[in-house]
Amino acid sequence: KTIFVLNGPNLNLLGVRQPHIYGYDTLDDVKKGCAEVASEFGLDVRLEQSNWEGQLIDWIHEARTTACGIIINPAAFTHTSVAIRDALATCEMPLFEVHISNVHAREAFRHHSYVSDIATGVIAGFGVEGYVLATRRLCGLVTKP
Ligand code: DQA
Repeated sequence: KTIFVLNGPNLNLLGVRQPHIYGYDTLDDVKKGCAEVASEFGLDVRLEQSNWEGQLIDWIHEARTTACGIIINPAAFTHTSVAIRDALATCEMPLFEVHISNVHAREAFRHHSYVSDIATGVIAGFGVEGYVLATRRLCGLVTKP
């Protein structure tokens, strides 16, 4: 069984992009951290990143039939994309929304999310550790007897 960890625009630059906000860890480090936890539960991780809304939607559609859960950091699309929300709403599996920074302590336009109210859980402001925590929770949920 596979968990999808999907990442939106500009997160390919994680580690070099505004490190005072997002830290120095890269998306590769995130993948390692999530895969390590998932392996404790006998699960696999597929981590993807795209700067394109449509590509993220295609991966969400793929997740519908091939994943047991989704962790998503939609990045800026969090605050703009009804299309990503609609795609996620078709997925009948646990869904966790992760933000590296505490979006609620930042600009007002980051306070609203199109995903939060359809998510199983939301993590913000825990740095990249948020992905690992979400992975642990998701794995616990999907392997619970
Ligand atoms: C982010 C927060 C968003 O507001 C921003 O557009 C991002 C990253 C985060 O992980 O903190 O690109 O999702």
